Amino acid sequence: MIHSFEVRGTGIFMPPRVLTNQEIESMVDTSDQWIVERTGISERRIASAETSTSDLIAPAVRNACEDAGLALEEVDTLLVATSTPDTMFPSTACWVQERLGIRGPAALDVAAGCTGWLYALELAGALISSGRARNVVVAAGEVMSKVVDWTDRRTCVLFGDGAAAAVVSATDREDAGVLASNWGADGTLAQILYQPAGGTQRPASAETIAEKAHVVHMDGGAVFRQAVRAMSTSAKQALESASLTPTDVDLMIPHQANIRIIEATRSRVGVPLERTFNTVSRYGNVSAATIPIALHEAKTAGKLNPGDRVLLTSFGTGLTWASTVLRW
Ligand code: ACO
Repeated sequence: MIHSFEVRGTGIFMPPRVLTNQEIESMVDTSDQWIVERTGISERRIASAETSTSDLIAPAVRNACEDAGLALEEVDTLLVATSTPDTMFPSTACWVQERLGIRGPAALDVAAGCTGWLYALELAGALISSGRARNVVVAAGEVMSKVVDWTDRRTCVLFGDGAAAAVVSATDREDAGVLASNWGADGTLAQILYQPAGGTQRPASAETIAEKAHVVHMDGGAVFRQAVRAMSTSAKQALESASLTPTDVDLMIPHQANIRIIEATRSRVGVPLERTFNTVSRYGNVSAATIPIALHEAKTAGKLNPGDRVLLTSFGTGLTWASTVLRW
């Protein structure tokens, strides 16, 4: 079914500080060669100590609205996907409103880890299709550098900071919009990737800090296997629902966690390498923000033309997954 909405504008905001693999070599026992071979990451962006997630998202939202030619006052819903919220409450979406000085539009966070932006896009489509909204800003941002253990070489090399936003609007264009999508979750896998403390299960205490329970805990091997399985299954289902084959895909943008996960997923789905977009080498894994960052960069690089069929697929903590086939 074709929903009557389109991505009208995109924008990103990346912190300027670049952290290279060579610099990480002086922090933990690792090497540029190990990181590049196992992950495909060469560098990532890192926010300053004073920067919160909403500080990155607010300028990304401004940039997306400017790109769309939409005044901030015309936004009627603000969705923010993040795993690194400014505060437990209120939502980061409300902090973004505060940063932008806007009041009125509904503002809420979507917590689905790295799948968050695709989950939020699904919600935006439902709101627009039902007539509840016309202009939804679907934003994502992460300051992962504040929730990784910089003494743990197994995780600290993987993540980066950044933000992106898209303006998703109702449209009369019949050749635009979502051709098919699916989403899902398996909560029984919650513990393969999580932040154990800081919520109501284990509120912050001297013990949780001493145990380093406020940082990313991950079973890397299990995440790798589940990621490839979840994304390839979900992406194939989305193509089938859209009555498309892998050769019909003009551009595939998978979640940017690791080049080996991207490569294994792309090959299982059957999309050629040259039609797969990659930002992981320059930005690392920016969790929920990776797909909208890549979408914006693909557009800016001239890799998206009107009518193109774009396959987006992601997985994340939860475990969550989602795929969307867009006609650009
Ligand atoms: N530098 C050097 N050596 C390292 C590093 C490092 N940065 N990290 C781990 N090692 C070592 C390990 O300690 C281990 O040594 P040992 O055999 O002496 O114990 C050795 O390298 C091999 O470790 P493995 O974990 O088997 O390495 P693997 O090839 O599986 O790669 C990796 C690890 C990159 C983490 C991989 O499992 C992976 O990519 N998993 C997915 C992780 C991921 O993408 N997480 C984010 C998902 S979040 C999200 O996007 C939803």
